Amino acid sequence: MIIYFTGTGNSRYCAQQLSRTLGDELMDSFHFIRDGIAAKLLSDRPWVFVCPTYAWRLPRVFSAFIRSAYFSGCRDAYFVMTCGDDIGSAARRNRALCREKGLNCMGTLRVVMPENYVAMFPVPEREESRLIVHRAQPALELACQCIRGGSPFPEPRRGALAPLKSGMVNSAFYRFIVHDRAFTVSDACTACGKCESLCPLGNITLTGGKPVWNGKCTHCMACICSCPAGAIEYGKRSLGKPRYLCPEDAE
Ligand SMILES: Cc1cc2nc3c(=O)[nH]c(=O)nc-3n(C[C@H](O)[C@H](O)[C@H](O)COP(=O)(O)O)c2cc1C
Ligand code: SF4
Ligand code: SF4
Repeated sequence: MIIYFTGTGNSRYCAQQLSRTLGDELMDSFHFIRDGIAAKLLSDRPWVFVCPTYAWRLPRVFSAFIRSAYFSGCRDAYFVMTCGDDIGSAARRNRALCREKGLNCMGTLRVVMPENYVAMFPVPEREESRLIVHRAQPALELACQCIRGGSPFPEPRRGALAPLKSGMVNSAFYRFIVHDRAFTVSDACTACGKCESLCPLGNITLTGGKPVWNGKCTHCMACICSCPAGAIEYGKRSLGKPRYLCPEDAE
């Protein structure tokens, strides 16, 4: 079973590709995470977890989802982490998570996709994004080959600072950077409610026809990037930048 988490569609696109090629069931973790439900899942095929990289690790909300879920049937688990560039030592962390869950870790594959972190960094325009997605195809093919053959993913490359990035820097990132206080909304808002319905944490409520952020954000970038009116900003950091949604994602 292919289980994914996404903010802006990269990981859904990759999960869909894997599901199609492997002929395996596709599952979105969105409702389990949003509703705080522990999933009870059964599959006789390997578990394939597909998600973005947040600060050189699995997104905390996704590792919490995996921790709380019950996986019956097959014991093998693969991780496919989409990223802008670098997953640090996420592979080691994923092995530890599998040990906790009694799963047999078959490895972590890094798939470079377009950067989506518009609140912090520049993100690519649509044409460049298409090229980056195109360049990710061999990695997705390799993933399918390994999963189909029951062989482990190759060990990802890891720089000398990887343990520091996935360790202390990751903790500091969640403590100091991940908050929703910088989100603002302009008069261009049409009260369509898309931001509210897309937030995987149910962190947005429309009050008086405008979104209000309620302090439980994981910086997935779904709200700011999906607003059809371009009405959401993240302080000054997002001003004048294109918004990012995976150009090949067929939701
Ligand atoms: C909060 C946040 C943290 C991120 N941290 C990393 C990172 O540590 N390394 C990296 O290469 N990309 C990082 N990225 C980029 C995303 O992992 C990448 O664009 C991913 O494919 C987005 O997936 P999605 O469209 O499924 O949400 C980060 C993005 C966000 C929003
Ligand atoms: S998605 Fe944009 S236009 Fe729609 S309610 Fe949210 S801020 Fe307003
Ligand atoms: S508030 Fe926006 S950025 Fe934060 S978790 Fe919800 S959709 Fe993602």
